[in-house]
Amino acid sequence: MSLITDAQKAGGRVGLKSDKIVINGGKPLRGRIEIRGAKNLATKAMVAALLGDTPSILRNVPDISDVNVVTGMLNAYGVSVTEPEPGTLVLDPSNVLKAHFAEIDALAGSSRIPILFCGPLLHRLGEALIPDLGGCRIGDRPIDFHMDALRAFGAVVDKGYEGIRLTAPNGLKGAEIELPYPSVGATEQVLLTAVRAEGVTELKNAAIEPEIMDLIAILQKMGAIINVEPNRVIFIEGVDKLHGYEHRALFDRNEAASWASAALATEGDIFVGGAKQQELMTFLNIFRKVGGAFDIHEDGIRFYHPGGPLKPVVVETDVHPGFMTDWQQPLIVALTKADGVSIVHETVYENRFGFTDALIAMGADIVVHKNGLAGHTRRVARREFEQAAVITGPTPLHGADVVVPDLRGGFSHLIAALTAEGKSTISNVGIISRGYEHFIDKLALLGADFVYEG
Ligand code: EPZ
Repeated sequence: MSLITDAQKAGGRVGLKSDKIVINGGKPLRGRIEIRGAKNLATKAMVAALLGDTPSILRNVPDISDVNVVTGMLNAYGVSVTEPEPGTLVLDPSNVLKAHFAEIDALAGSSRIPILFCGPLLHRLGEALIPDLGGCRIGDRPIDFHMDALRAFGAVVDKGYEGIRLTAPNGLKGAEIELPYPSVGATEQVLLTAVRAEGVTELKNAAIEPEIMDLIAILQKMGAIINVEPNRVIFIEGVDKLHGYEHRALFDRNEAASWASAALATEGDIFVGGAKQQELMTFLNIFRKVGGAFDIHEDGIRFYHPGGPLKPVVVETDVHPGFMTDWQQPLIVALTKADGVSIVHETVYENRFGFTDALIAMGADIVVHKNGLAGHTRRVARREFEQAAVITGPTPLHGADVVVPDLRGGFSHLIAALTAEGKSTISNVGIISRGYEHFIDKLALLGADFVYEG
């Protein structure tokens, strides 16, 4: 059974018939929800299956549209993807074949994952065609680190008007690569290419996010030899053959942090089933400093507002183990309720505060400094293009009509509307289903007062 429908191939979304939700704010979210595997692992694990010569089984896969995009792309390359039970995918790469560029182009439009097909396709087919990439519009999001790394392995990169064509006339050979910045995607690119390249690859300044560690665990199950050394160095010894894996995807810590912020901002109490402490430690520290409370359980984490005023914080986003850039948007809604001035320095992306316009329209006092703010007590080195948001609270929010700009910004708009006095209409909510499984059902479970126009 293919998981992708014609509507989804045409850019449709999972389980969403409409793009609009009308929220009556002011009600705390309370109850229990379950989260599943991380979007930013499951999609990459699916690409890794292309490297094996036997089928792979991936469990705990979320029902989100980014998974459907990757399913469609794998199908186009002849990989069969079936779902014998909800949340378990069987990916069979025994008949990999070249795909038509137009088909790939149509499928890839809404995601950034296709870039990661480069290495596996070069190994399997000797050629990779990569269309213009989608993903959230949160900055330039260049792919220079990816292309430079692939060239270091011996790939030849030709840029055409349709996209990029890569070939490897002399095969792919292990290389010494140092990333200019610990990019998540570029680290994954190197891993997915080096595991079957001839010889040893040394990657310096690698990203070490938990999702990358989970991908390394998957590759090791497939037969790869990968050593993670101190100081962001990864050694990969190429092997001739890899086989399928069986793996349960790591939980989605971005989704967990989002619902945690929703609990705090709405003065609610949410048990996030499936969330784990280890991968959320940095978030939990900030959550506690703002005034949130949490209880760690075997099967999840309870996040709640314990009463009393919230406190302002200064946060710098960073690569792991720093505070993730994907956590700042929902947290900022809670910071509009804190008693004083908070500062969020965004150091990972150069344009990730666009979503604050809607919060300001709802009554928040947020000033975005487009060139960032220097500070005496910075932990993260200042970056050339960073920005800062200064949030002064507490400001009550009121309802407004909002159009969702991107995935995480969109979730923060949902939370803002849930805390606001009166009615908000949020359009373009379909984007949120790229990364938040069944969020409409979860809102209903948590007692939100809304009408989903589906
Ligand atoms: C991944 O994006 C995630 N996406 C992002 O999550 C996440 O915010 C980001 O990592 C950081 O953790 C996926 O996993 C699909 P990067 P990625 O390469 O890999 C610059 C979400 O909402 N850069 O680590 O694309 C880049 O511009 C999404 O779930 C280059 O300059 O991020 C950025 O400033 C949004 N050249 C920085 O590096 C390159 O070739 C970090 O980006 C590549 C990146």
